[in-house]
Amino acid sequence: IKKIGVLTSGGDSPGMNAAIRAVVRTCAFHNIECAGVYRGYQGMIEGDFKEMGPRAVNNIINKGGTILKSARSKEFMTEEGRKKAHANLVKQGIDALVVIGGNGSFTGALLFNKEFGFPVIGIPGTIDNDIFGTSFTLGYDTALNTVVEVIDKIRDTASSHNRLFFIEVMGRDAGHIALNAGIGAGAEEILIPEEDMGLDRLLDSLRKSKASGKSSSIVVIAEGDKIGKNAFELKDYVEENMPEYDVRVSILGHMQRGGSPSCFDRVLASRLGVKAVETLLEGNSNYMVGLIRDEIVLTPLENAVKGKTQVDKELIRVSDIVSI
Ligand code: F6P
Repeated sequence: IKKIGVLTSGGDSPGMNAAIRAVVRTCAFHNIECAGVYRGYQGMIEGDFKEMGPRAVNNIINKGGTILKSARSKEFMTEEGRKKAHANLVKQGIDALVVIGGNGSFTGALLFNKEFGFPVIGIPGTIDNDIFGTSFTLGYDTALNTVVEVIDKIRDTASSHNRLFFIEVMGRDAGHIALNAGIGAGAEEILIPEEDMGLDRLLDSLRKSKASGKSSSIVVIAEGDKIGKNAFELKDYVEENMPEYDVRVSILGHMQRGGSPSCFDRVLASRLGVKAVETLLEGNSNYMVGLIRDEIVLTPLENAVKGKTQVDKELIRVSDIVSI
């Protein structure tokens, strides 16, 4: 391998820049070339490349977002799009690819490998933490800290006005952010896509909270929660059934995806970036690099794509106990 291409694809997440930096500098360390691909697979199709030496990634370890920009490319889902992308890589002399992204990005990488035998390695980057083969995805830790910081602020108002707040966090298919940030911020109830707690249990829990002397409450909802009601619908439902509650809704939205990465995400990004390049240089491909029990491990990309993460049931129990 003489030249590696690196791209970020799908939703951005804090730590992607630190991973780009690690990939670029590991290439330089091993005296091979590196090219950045702009706007993910779309840039690959349109020939948007830039040679990157170690100085091209100065002062980005602390930055959120991705300097290479990201896209969800529809064209790459077509065979024609992928053919164009492959022709561009060949023209650039790129012989392997590091893809930083989530499940959709890895599915594209796998397809690309199958069609052209092109070596690919994935680095898991998404705030949702929903990728099989790693305990932590890039950006998850930062997003958790962002969410907890914001809920702490909302708690001030909840407590001053004796209010009930429904706070919607990201995670359309996964409740990791909701569950962990919910516990961290002391939420009374947490609604996630993986478990259906039911509306009756929610009302019951809110009644118990009131009866036990709590004057304010925080309920954290993942955007894809299984109850099937969004935060505003839940507000209406609770107000109808418990008029004694003064309810407000806060949807945290994309602020959860931005910001300077935590130290944890920077170190993780650095470790994964080094391993991604060195795996390719050792002649291996079609893996995702991940972190399990503080060890960097390789998972076949196919398993990473097909596998499902699960929320830790123990956390649900812990949340129930500590919110009594
Ligand atoms: O996958 C990351 C994520 O932030 C999800 O939690 C959220 O549902 C989705 O991306 C939002 O995507 P977009 O920024 O394209 O609206």
